Amino acid sequence: MGMSIRRLAAACGAEVIGADLVRPLDAAAVQQIHRALGEHGVLLFRDAGITPEQHIAFSRQFGPLEAHVVGEFHLAGHPEVFVVSNVREEGRLKGAVYAGQYWHSDLSYMSKPSLGSLLLCREMPEVGGDTMWANMYLAYETLSGPMKRFLGGLKAVHDYSHAYDTYFAALKERPPLTPEQKAKTPPVEHPVIRTHPVTGKKALYVNPGFTTGFAGMPEEESRPILDFLFRHATRPEFIYRHKWSVDDLLFWDNRCTMHYALADYDFTVRRHMHRTTLAGDEPF
Ligand code: OGA
Ligand code: MN
Repeated sequence: MGMSIRRLAAACGAEVIGADLVRPLDAAAVQQIHRALGEHGVLLFRDAGITPEQHIAFSRQFGPLEAHVVGEFHLAGHPEVFVVSNVREEGRLKGAVYAGQYWHSDLSYMSKPSLGSLLLCREMPEVGGDTMWANMYLAYETLSGPMKRFLGGLKAVHDYSHAYDTYFAALKERPPLTPEQKAKTPPVEHPVIRTHPVTGKKALYVNPGFTTGFAGMPEEESRPILDFLFRHATRPEFIYRHKWSVDDLLFWDNRCTMHYALADYDFTVRRHMHRTTLAGDEPF
């Protein structure tokens, strides 16, 4: 059976209908999904009642996976599955809590950031806990010519510690990175405007979670421009907001979108997700 693609919103996002999530895809289907990913930024596969092994096998067809640098949040026996969860068992959290509750692109703080992530919903509150994606092609395309030219010559600094110093600072469940974790995540520089290797389109590549400034510019110059870019990139018309159902699998492109997990639900209600993370290349 062939696959079909149906757009979910004007900004970005599309549903893939008829993809086999269990048996291997042929090369044409893998290519079709890669293209749709680059074009739509976020792909929804519904009713993905798959096991961790099947989730890993499905994901691997799109490239090698990586294990998260903060080693403690993976599924037992499966370093490829990063657990995003507020569920406690015997007082211990089963995964990364408060993950992604700020705009970010996964692993932008690595010299080779993630190509894309595949997040599978296991448990979800009845209301709340949506995730939003922003289309960073649109963010770039709607800038003025002079701003595009200015940003085109710049690199930005990305630093994982930034999220810990700001968003996680008051949270005892997310203690500061250890010296070993810090040593694995030194600040890195990436072009502010990157070219998507599949679509050839340009996208804005800075995010509030991890981007701290522009290379070679003092804070007082960087800050107002970054603040403008973050405000601009998160305009409502650039956003797809997903209301999760259990067994939804969302595959997003970290090269042309950023995302945000809404913390608007009752934290005593379980929200439990499994993520695989595709390795990526150096942005250009
Ligand atoms: C992630 C993430 C968002 C969410 O897994 O990378 O940011 O809604 N999660 O859980
Ligand atoms: Mn994320």
